[in-house]
Amino acid sequence: IKLNSQLPNSVASTNDMAKEQFKKYPNKLSIVATNKQTAGRGRQGRSFYSNLAHGLYFSIAVIPNSNCVEDFPLYTLLAATTLVEVLEETFESPLSVKWVNDIFYQGRKVSGILSELVSYQGQNGIVVGIGVNLAGSFAHADKDAQNVAGTLFGEKLPASFNQNEFLGQYLRRFYDYHQAFQEKAFMSVYEKHLMGIGKKVSYSVNNKQHEGTIQGINQKGQLLVMNSNHSIDTLYGQSIHFSS
Ligand code: BTN
Repeated sequence: IKLNSQLPNSVASTNDMAKEQFKKYPNKLSIVATNKQTAGRGRQGRSFYSNLAHGLYFSIAVIPNSNCVEDFPLYTLLAATTLVEVLEETFESPLSVKWVNDIFYQGRKVSGILSELVSYQGQNGIVVGIGVNLAGSFAHADKDAQNVAGTLFGEKLPASFNQNEFLGQYLRRFYDYHQAFQEKAFMSVYEKHLMGIGKKVSYSVNNKQHEGTIQGINQKGQLLVMNSNHSIDTLYGQSIHFSS
């Protein structure tokens, strides 16, 4: 895939735009990309800081390759795996994924992913949005972002980085994984990059605080944690916190 287009300077949220594209072209794969968002959205209703000097924010709308509702949660894993693999071709230090959708590089969150279902006239689609912090500073971001977020390249984007080439590589790999979705080849790559296997985390189950040790993921992309009673908790939407 070769992209030559100029990206629009700023949009509200590429996920919202990709949803609109899906409604216009429900049978096509649509991509919306930008370098700034004025209303970038994160998981659990949070906002996503999208005003970095060099940020890349993009969304892909696809028709799921199988039964939509069942496989929907796996799209976040597919998108994360794709990103980690493409970035590891450029960067020397490894990247890891904090379950389920946060990509970390050198101890900082450099990317977040938000997958959403879209339905229009009986056709189901999935919008996967990826925010990549290329370079810049979080000095003007909120405290939460300042505490965890970081960039891939530090403050300055090297001239050698070509974002269209990067997007092209990303889309190619995403497309390939998507075509072969049933093989779920991305799952084992995801698990290899999963942060904290064997480490202690806290999380809540039915409003009760639990502690346990990360074991890995299951076929549905859920996180398996061995709790203090030595039984397995299966997490699907909860946030996890590493115990220090
Ligand atoms: C998170 O970290 O909670 C997920 C962040 C997802 C951000 C991306 S940026 C592109 C797309 N458009 C949005 O409004 N959100 C996603």
